Amino acid sequence: MTGAPARPVRHLLSIDDLGADGIDEVMRLTDAFVEVSRRSIPKVPALRGKTVASLFFEDSTRTRLSFETAAKRLSADTMSFSVSTSSVRKGESLRDTALTIEAMGVDCIVVRHRSSGAPHRVASWVDAAVVNAGDGWHEHPTQALLDCYTIRERLGSLAGRRVLIVGDVKHSRVARSDIAAFTALGADVTLVAPPTLLPPTLEGWPVSVSHDLDAVAPDADVIYLLRIQQERMTEALVPSLREYTARYGLTVRRAARLRDDALVMHPGPMNRGVEIAPEVADLPRSAIIDQVRNGVAVRMAVLYLLLGAGSDKVLTADDVMEAAVGESR
Ligand code: NCD
Repeated sequence: MTGAPARPVRHLLSIDDLGADGIDEVMRLTDAFVEVSRRSIPKVPALRGKTVASLFFEDSTRTRLSFETAAKRLSADTMSFSVSTSSVRKGESLRDTALTIEAMGVDCIVVRHRSSGAPHRVASWVDAAVVNAGDGWHEHPTQALLDCYTIRERLGSLAGRRVLIVGDVKHSRVARSDIAAFTALGADVTLVAPPTLLPPTLEGWPVSVSHDLDAVAPDADVIYLLRIQQERMTEALVPSLREYTARYGLTVRRAARLRDDALVMHPGPMNRGVEIAPEVADLPRSAIIDQVRNGVAVRMAVLYLLLGAGSDKVLTADDVMEAAVGESR
């Protein structure tokens, strides 16, 4: 990971496309869009005339709605595609599907796919900007950006913060993007999982590893719980869910031993009662709903960064507010 953002940012496929400076820039833009989101009419004309298409080959609730809401709040037109009702069921390829959508005149394609690298392929075929909304086990960069924003909002900064990422790291694109983003902003990340739920090698990953949640949780600033991704498991990697919860779940008893100001996070969808106790998800220390709320403003920032500015212009929050002046102020 380099510190400098690759400029101009044409696609957002990986956190590495941004680097630490690029992440900071998204955070600054997000501040402006959070302000917009609080208005009685939370809409600005910044992307009027642009079209954002979502191309989702995997299930999604929050990511898809969040991107579509973000595009609408920027006054872009939206186009939505879902595999179950599309010609993919008749055998149309990813490439033909992407080219078909682009031919209708879109400026940005938001892609979610079960295969790692699919958004990169789409980016090589189309002229539109491409945003990775989750590819297989690989990356989910906008989730990491909204997680960074939420931690900054609650704790001030990520620098020097001790973050535990707990659970099914092996199958988690969220973990991969979070590790890249959190460490780029100076956090100290520990993965907490049974060996079977970690990738076969962690060489080159800037993280520590623990197999003992009780030992590391009391010192943590952030406990980030991952969903057990049963749909991606081809074999039984935990003896039973009950046993997993006993060793790695954030139970009421464990939550009571956290520091007073420690945050609990989860990307959703939650398996309440497995990785997180139902009551713990609703505690004031839980930032899970903040993550969803911030997701819209973060995605407005990303869409604006990719579509709203001249190719070599470094955007500031003032630019955004200037774009917002007029209809809604
Ligand atoms: C995650 C995903 O789909 O990658 N959810 C999300 O986008 N908020 C995590 C998951 O499915 O466990």
